[in-house]
Amino acid sequence: MKDGAKRALEALAEHERALAGTTLRDLFAADPQRFSRFSVSLGDLTLDYSKNGVTAETMLLLARLAEAAGLAERRAAMFSGEAINNTEGRAVLHVALRAPRDADIRVDGENVMPAVHAVLDRMRDFAEAVRSGAIRSATGEPFSDVVNIGIGGSDLGPAMATAALTPYRDGGPRVHFVSNVDGAHIADTLADLEAGRTLFLIASKTFTTSETMTNAGTARAWLAAQLGEAAVADHFAAISTNLAAVSAFGIDPGRVFGFWDWVGGRYSVWSAIGLPLAIAIGFDKFAEFLGGAHAMDQHFLTAPLDRNIPALMGLLGIWHRNVKGMATHAVLPYDQRLARFPAHLQQLDMESNGKRVTRDGSPIDYETGPVVWGEPGTNGQHAFYQLLHQGTDIVPCDFLVAAEPQEALGDHHAKLVANCLAQSEALAFGKTEAEARAELRAVGLPDAEIDRLAPHKSFPGNRPSNTLLYRRLDPATLGALIALYEHKVFVQGVVWDVNSFDQWGVELGKALAGRLLPIVRDDAPADALDSSTAGLVARFRALR
Ligand code: F6P
Repeated sequence: MKDGAKRALEALAEHERALAGTTLRDLFAADPQRFSRFSVSLGDLTLDYSKNGVTAETMLLLARLAEAAGLAERRAAMFSGEAINNTEGRAVLHVALRAPRDADIRVDGENVMPAVHAVLDRMRDFAEAVRSGAIRSATGEPFSDVVNIGIGGSDLGPAMATAALTPYRDGGPRVHFVSNVDGAHIADTLADLEAGRTLFLIASKTFTTSETMTNAGTARAWLAAQLGEAAVADHFAAISTNLAAVSAFGIDPGRVFGFWDWVGGRYSVWSAIGLPLAIAIGFDKFAEFLGGAHAMDQHFLTAPLDRNIPALMGLLGIWHRNVKGMATHAVLPYDQRLARFPAHLQQLDMESNGKRVTRDGSPIDYETGPVVWGEPGTNGQHAFYQLLHQGTDIVPCDFLVAAEPQEALGDHHAKLVANCLAQSEALAFGKTEAEARAELRAVGLPDAEIDRLAPHKSFPGNRPSNTLLYRRLDPATLGALIALYEHKVFVQGVVWDVNSFDQWGVELGKALAGRLLPIVRDDAPADALDSSTAGLVARFRALR
């Protein structure tokens, strides 16, 4: 971390000590305008961050931290195509993928926009032809089912977005996602499908990822066994930067959708990796999804820090992680169709900022990325919220909720929204022991019983949360929400001075799996293993 940023963080720590004992109850009581002071809107999207234990001075000190960390310069470097992914020597330009056709964004002096839109145009043609049935299977049928085979960024973004935008499918084919190398995943998916109506998309930036190549091979064998090897060309398309490997797999070059090394896997849903989503909802809606993200990019690029939603969320996260010492962060969509949003954010956030050295390789002596987790409300309320309300760890939460439901079903939505608002209220303001005692007294309990129960029935409150409220989970809103979190993660990576765009930490496990595979298959002796791994291999062999 830069020296100036370290000093700014120290100033925040000192400020936090001065604030000690000030509760959210105090802050709300002292300022009836707290919501308007600590909320910001972009179109139909509002961030309410008033239920965080911050004051105007906190926000000022956080803005100073962002300035000292060089946020404006780093952001400009990203948007202008500098090779900010310094361990791989790559630009980071997911923002170009959702920029308009006439934008001018350069990598090594070359405007990438013509190439970006050439691929988008091909995606449009292909997606619409699959949806309309103009592209048919080897048996002459329209495709009723599309199976995307990919993992990580080649799965999570499109899988999450396709589920989120289910109401926009509008007669398009069903789209399935297979990622896990566990054969159960592809077996269960294929069990319900007809080969003559199934199209496979093999999505892999590198086209070498073991899980994806294994599942792709199984899909190909399944198809060829039923329709013959010649049918493969009609039933497979690929999304990759590795055109040579795709062609070696036997996929028709006319069915390959490319992207570029400046698109990170976890930032790739906006590229050809979004093809399954475009097929699911149609290209016009996919374009609206890109448009929502672009609007967020412009906001992130131009809004002042105190009105900049991604910057505010990033800096509040720094406050919780580095000043208040909170190790995890919960994402709680009150929107069932965002069920996979926390999983997408886990890769986005934890693969980006789960780092222990700075960009120049120096060891880090402060906290970096938190553990990100979450589940949709209200299900979470009946599972882990007990800990959120009364546990010994404090977990900052993001609540997400739409004003309008996609379907008018009685009072479901009113109940959903009431629950969402109730949870952030309960976390913020809790229930004092005196209030708990008064309630117990009011129902006529004897004093001894009140003494016994009051500690269990009181809530400390003062637990921080953000609420993101939007009109409706439509393609543009979803695009804006994903881009918002991408930029939030960027802001934090800048403050922590890490490279948010590499992921070397996933390599060691991959390499060891490669070494263990022949041992597990009995093709190699189990020597030179540690005693735990050797013991497990022996037990595995005995059990199977
Ligand atoms: O998990 C590591 C990773 O490299 C991710 O960053 C990436 O999204 C995923 O594997 C899949 O990679 P590919 O698209 O190359 O198959």
